Amino acid sequence: MRIGVLTSGGDCPGLNAVIRGVVRKVERVHGGVVVGFRDAWRGVLDDVYEVIDVNRCRGILPRGGTILGTSRTQPYEFPDGVETVKATMARHDLEGFIVIGGEGSLGAARDLHKDGVPCIGVPKTIDNDIAGTDVTFGFDTAVHVASAAIDRLHTTAEAHDRVIVVEVMGRHVGHIAVWAGIAGGATMTLIPEVPFDIAEVCDALERRHAGMNYASIVVVAEGAMPAEGTLELPEYEVDRFGHQRLGGISTLLASEIEGRTGIETRVTILGHTQRGGTPTAYDRVLATRFGIAAADAAAAGDWGIMVALQANRITHVALDDVVGKLKGVDLEFFNEVARPFFAS
Ligand code: F6P
Repeated sequence: MRIGVLTSGGDCPGLNAVIRGVVRKVERVHGGVVVGFRDAWRGVLDDVYEVIDVNRCRGILPRGGTILGTSRTQPYEFPDGVETVKATMARHDLEGFIVIGGEGSLGAARDLHKDGVPCIGVPKTIDNDIAGTDVTFGFDTAVHVASAAIDRLHTTAEAHDRVIVVEVMGRHVGHIAVWAGIAGGATMTLIPEVPFDIAEVCDALERRHAGMNYASIVVVAEGAMPAEGTLELPEYEVDRFGHQRLGGISTLLASEIEGRTGIETRVTILGHTQRGGTPTAYDRVLATRFGIAAADAAAAGDWGIMVALQANRITHVALDDVVGKLKGVDLEFFNEVARPFFAS
């Protein structure tokens, strides 16, 4: 068996662990060969590749980033993209591709699969927003980074009686914000799923700070939105893939909080620190399980699926059942565990 593998979209801690899992299982158990393509589909289109064997994977398990590089390039951007992918497949005698990617990349994998390019997806994103799997690898690492940062911000906020607004990633969903907020003992957590009212945020902070030397940590997901008509959002830049470059809601929030309450307020944007560096042990284990499962699915000829974790078991879900459905924060969980602490 010969299969292609690529890492696509924004990077995420655990990508190398998936690659290693795929390679070990394909080579050592199925007697096959893995061809890794450079910078996602760009490498497939330009035929930039390396054969990855077990030796090439030594030492990569704890490394962040991806030994294959990544990009957001998709074959459908090019008029002859699908035919070029098929030509590369034929040239390398590949049975199909294991695509390690997020929403956009899994969408392209689903479409390619329908167009005659067998694909298996592996759900990757620190945002944890992919449907069909309880969790994506990378999420646990991002939560660890964010909650460790919040721990540090507590002490400096307390020393100055300040509010610190901490912005975490989470373009469409607030999983990182909610988990890091709970783990870090945040005063309040604002997420895209629940539009916030700036007047309520300020009232709650004022009540909390009244007469006492309290500090407050407000965690905000980068995609959090004010309730309609309450606050104007900044214009975000759009990159060449149509993605808004988020990052800025915290600055707006902080200036509104300070302006309306008079409480000194500072901002910390964690940005790509949440995506860089070594994966946690949990993410290494999950990524390894996903890699092994993807290799087994390829060996069994089970294409057109995404490997997933459900109730701690690895399973398969059809790519068709995953694409176009974002998994948001369970609001019952949010209301039960995060909200009771709001500014109390
Ligand atoms: O989707 C993962 C993610 O980390 C988002 O949380 C974030 O909005 C986005 O990628 C940032 O992308 P880029 O690295 O292209 O700025």
